[in-house]
Amino acid sequence: MDQSYTLNQEHLLRVVYPKEHIASEVSRLAEEINAAYAGRELLVIVVLKGALFFAADLLRGLRIPVRVDFVKLSSYDGTMSSGQVQLTKDLDSEVAGRDVLVVEDIIDTGLTLSFLVDLLHRRGVGTLRVCTLIDKKERRQTELEPDFAGFHCPGGFLVGYGLDYNERLRELPSIFEVVENNTEP
Ligand code: IMP
Ligand code: MG
Repeated sequence: MDQSYTLNQEHLLRVVYPKEHIASEVSRLAEEINAAYAGRELLVIVVLKGALFFAADLLRGLRIPVRVDFVKLSSYDGTMSSGQVQLTKDLDSEVAGRDVLVVEDIIDTGLTLSFLVDLLHRRGVGTLRVCTLIDKKERRQTELEPDFAGFHCPGGFLVGYGLDYNERLRELPSIFEVVENNTEP
């Protein structure tokens, strides 16, 4: 599945982050987090659904005590952010006074995460940091900067390792860019 392949008549999938690169980047991020939170207990908030795969691998690299909770936010319609963020699944845990790490798959405009960060501040979070596997920082429309970031990606629409295209292709073990198919049929 690490080869480029045809998605449909108009689109190809071109590998950008093979699964081996993802694994080493996730290990590096886990070590950064271990060092930053040594001796503390962390509440990890995973942003569903996209960050599920990343979070599962990242958490297995942590050697500090953690609790895990989930939120679901929606702003995307196909490949375009609608800008209107909704909380479609809330946390089960209290965040007041706690050390919280938000785990996200990819930050694009930053609108989704800014909404969550504001909400957690309103709820009196103790400390709050953000970890993302992929940062499309050139596309940011907010001030938000991740504290722990894996790959820097200038743009394009990515799928696999949790990232979806209209709810499809999350299960791919590597990350691919959806590119136009310019070859003759
Ligand atoms: P933002 O609000 O524009 O930062 O978008 C953040 C969310 O949109 C991410 O958590 C992803 O779920 C989704 N997203 C952004 N870019 C991509 C992409 O290239 N592929 C798949 N999902 C994406
Ligand atoms: Mg996401």
